[in-house]
Amino acid sequence: MSKLRIEEISAFEVLDSRGNPTVASEVRLSDNSSSIAYVPSGASTGKYEALEIRDEDETRFLGRGVSKAVNLINKEIKELLTGLDPLDQSNIDTILCKADGTDNKSNLGANSILAVSLANLRASAESRNLPLYEHINLIYKDLFEVEEKPTLPIPMMNILNGGVHADNKIDFQEFMIQPSGFNSFKSSLQCGVEIFHQLKEQLKQRKLNTSVGDEGGFAPQLKSAEEALDLILQAIDVSGYKAGSQVFICLDCASSELFDEEKYLLEGVEKSFNSAEMIRYLETLRSKYPISSIEDGLDEEDWDGWKVLTERLGSSTQLVGDDIFATNTNRIKKGIKQNIANSVLVKINQIGTISEVMEAVNLSKENSYKTVVSHRSGETEDTSIADIAIGLCSGQIKAGAPSRTDRVAKYNRMLILEEKFNIPFSS
Ligand code: PGA
Ligand code: ZN
Repeated sequence: MSKLRIEEISAFEVLDSRGNPTVASEVRLSDNSSSIAYVPSGASTGKYEALEIRDEDETRFLGRGVSKAVNLINKEIKELLTGLDPLDQSNIDTILCKADGTDNKSNLGANSILAVSLANLRASAESRNLPLYEHINLIYKDLFEVEEKPTLPIPMMNILNGGVHADNKIDFQEFMIQPSGFNSFKSSLQCGVEIFHQLKEQLKQRKLNTSVGDEGGFAPQLKSAEEALDLILQAIDVSGYKAGSQVFICLDCASSELFDEEKYLLEGVEKSFNSAEMIRYLETLRSKYPISSIEDGLDEEDWDGWKVLTERLGSSTQLVGDDIFATNTNRIKKGIKQNIANSVLVKINQIGTISEVMEAVNLSKENSYKTVVSHRSGETEDTSIADIAIGLCSGQIKAGAPSRTDRVAKYNRMLILEEKFNIPFSS
């Protein structure tokens, strides 16, 4: 039998959940297995993320077209990879990174690179006749010589949206709930869904808007984090769950969006904080509410502040680094060395290849940092992050509210996989 090889690579300009163009790529192998991968896109993007290439041609899609990225796949990337062994994912990704040649993927674009890296991963799973998570898990175990069985992650569900994800005044971007102590993904998701619906009732009773933001959570016209937290606590209570034991609240402050080089500007509550004051504010919230996790409590450049925040809250609270780490092993290493944060947010398009995502997860785990696989605020029907979270045993996933198909598709994928393959649940 002839050796399996990449036969055809093509790309398409499609749309994400915000109606912005994004890249999709199809990889077809010599045994005719094929798969399409779609690339997500952020709104609160960090400075240190790999770059997505956009056309910047104002005559198309307000400058947001991705035809350049699509052409790069159809020409350069196709030429580079056609004929190669798709099962050697690490080789495929190394070639993509080398051909790009920059630290932030600005030549070929993280959107072109990720589309192909992920489509190759998916097509290879097809060829091996394995569920995607199983294929990912086998690569991961082989690469890092670890013995980790696929595990379903605990969901963190963003039920109330603020910041740049919503047209309201709430400063913090995400108010999430995380069920705790449940014995299956299914039952933990059910808990989150019931609270989501009760939150809608609470909003209606107060004549507040129940339309949703970019990640499917409600986006009422509130001002402060406290108002949002009180409403969520109320929703948990009427749902019959116990906040602080069965359900915890997780925040993504997305503080890089609030920082103006000197101060954290919290316009909703008309306050401006220096780093020490922002830390104190977070400590106060932490002491008043059952908050188990705070993401990007401080700006991506505020390393000194992060150090203090970790000293103060790190032993009791999960402190997740998103913009500060950018799924980049060099930045995660720096954080580990300086004792900054205790958890890493893993966004596949922040770094650009699946192999680099695996390296980031492995590095974090080796240093006892928790990992949270994450969607972007601009998503698609692609559910690969569900399989990535399971295959890499990330322990946690954030994929938005149980609302809007771009979010629910990931939860549905995990519900089906749990039942079909009896995968154990992280607890
Ligand atoms: P983004 O938001 O996709 O807009 O960056 C998600 C996050 O900050 O975690
Ligand atoms: Zn974030």
